[in-house]
Amino acid sequence: MNEEQRLAGQAISKTSAKGKTDKDYSQYFQTVYSPPSLKDAKKRGKEEVNYHDDFKIDPAFAEMGKGRKFYIRTYGCQMNEHDTEVMAGIFLQLGYEPTDSTADADVILLNTCAIRENAENKVFGEIGHLKPLKLERPDLLIGVCGCMSQEESVVNKILKTHQHIDMIFGTHNIHRLPNILNEAYMSKEMVVEVWSKEGDVIENLPKVRKGAIKGWVNIMYGCDKFCTYCIVPYTRGKERSRRPEEIIQEVRHLASQGYKEITLLGQNVNAYGKDFTDMTYGLGQLMDELRKIDIPRIRFTTSHPRDFDDHLIEVLAKQGNLVEHIHLPVQHGSSEILKLMARKYTREHFLTLVDKIRAAIPNAVLTTDIIVGFPNETEEQFKETLSLYNEVGFETAFTYIYSPREGTPAAKMEDNVPMDVKKDRLQRLNMLVNDMSAAALKKLEGQIVEVLVEGESKKNPHVLAGYTRTSKLVNFVAPKEVIGKLVLVKITDAKTWSLNGEMIEIVETAEVNV
Ligand code: SAH
Ligand code: SF4
Ligand code: F3S
Repeated sequence: MNEEQRLAGQAISKTSAKGKTDKDYSQYFQTVYSPPSLKDAKKRGKEEVNYHDDFKIDPAFAEMGKGRKFYIRTYGCQMNEHDTEVMAGIFLQLGYEPTDSTADADVILLNTCAIRENAENKVFGEIGHLKPLKLERPDLLIGVCGCMSQEESVVNKILKTHQHIDMIFGTHNIHRLPNILNEAYMSKEMVVEVWSKEGDVIENLPKVRKGAIKGWVNIMYGCDKFCTYCIVPYTRGKERSRRPEEIIQEVRHLASQGYKEITLLGQNVNAYGKDFTDMTYGLGQLMDELRKIDIPRIRFTTSHPRDFDDHLIEVLAKQGNLVEHIHLPVQHGSSEILKLMARKYTREHFLTLVDKIRAAIPNAVLTTDIIVGFPNETEEQFKETLSLYNEVGFETAFTYIYSPREGTPAAKMEDNVPMDVKKDRLQRLNMLVNDMSAAALKKLEGQIVEVLVEGESKKNPHVLAGYTRTSKLVNFVAPKEVIGKLVLVKITDAKTWSLNGEMIEIVETAEVNV
């Protein structure tokens, strides 16, 4: 099937819409634009996952980037960062050169995040800032992609009020970048291509990785959990897993290139393999295979407590290159709020899971994500979050004030916790998070830890910085030759968020072809 036939067969929305009146837009959306809807999304699971391993640049586009530069600004999570690596790979294959300044870019992409309102506001601010640049250089192409472009309201707003944008494309359309660029050059009108079709996995995509030490590998896409506050299931589509052979091959390839650490990516990695119809295969089996690859560290993010099964715990307990750090977002400490969030576990279930993990992996470090100020959250329920945090002994957390997202079930609930109360709760939670982080770091004083050296410290170029297996930042003085290596460091003193130490020795790892 060629690209055009595929396009024709899928639910897509695509047009050139610049210069249309308000009336034209509404007509256009009623007939063509089909944003992901909760109703349709809930019917998921019936459609097949289509695998495409045929990504190729059309020879007609081979010269497109000659003499041109691209710039991508990324917002949001690691999945978005990794999508940027793929788009950068496509740009290079098209002959573009990278640049780190918008001033001399010929194409600017904003790879956006929709998770909270302030994430979206930042992007709209940036869209505004880019307008003078476009007026100055009409040949410049500006594109908006990523999670915000999957939202109908965002697309509408850009069409109506930000006519200097040339391209809008969705998270399922990244591999279409060459065609989208081509269309933008040809038509000079706004090109909108947002597929609500969700069931594809595209292999053989090029990638330009940001570093040569740590690499990201997608193991699955999308999310079917539908936590009531969350926009991700709509912006990223249904859960679909990459085949294990593809993942194993990519990790082996990175190992042979000298990468030292791999982070497996997915919004809910514990659901890995659930969509395979031809075999029973899960994250436990995958980790058990990856464990055998000669690479020092493998981690994954993000895991959902609900699907964290015993087999996975058993495999992680073998440790080796599987690190003893588990990021396990709990979101809340009250079973009633967890129910309103549709997290599908209770406080008690969560604590039982933590007990199981600690029994199998006594040195496991747990970190989490927490939301405060969810609709109806009482002071008592908030205190349950604090007590759960203490009881589990999390070592750090990402903490957020609840932000209603249009189209999600929680957005229909009354957002009835006043903002000053939300802010006060966040501050109290953060105090606890800081204290527990400082205490966890303090315990490491005098100990020898393994550090993967990433580079110079941000504050002082004479100091090197790296992370332990449990993601603790360590600063120490050592020659630059150890950058990219694993070293043993004796911790001399602990701060709230980082450790200082003295290097003892380099850890020998297998020689690799760089
Ligand atoms: N898939 C991951 C979460 C990805 S989003 C998981 O389930 O763990 C990262 C974090 O953002 C979430 O864990 C949650 O704490 C937070 N978040 C998501 N939606 C939010 C919203 N509407 N308001 C505030 N925080 C939100
Ligand atoms: Fe969002 Fe994570 Fe819940 Fe999926 S599992 S809906 S990504 S919070
Ligand atoms: Fe944001 Fe999309 Fe990631 S909403 S957090 S960039 S999946």
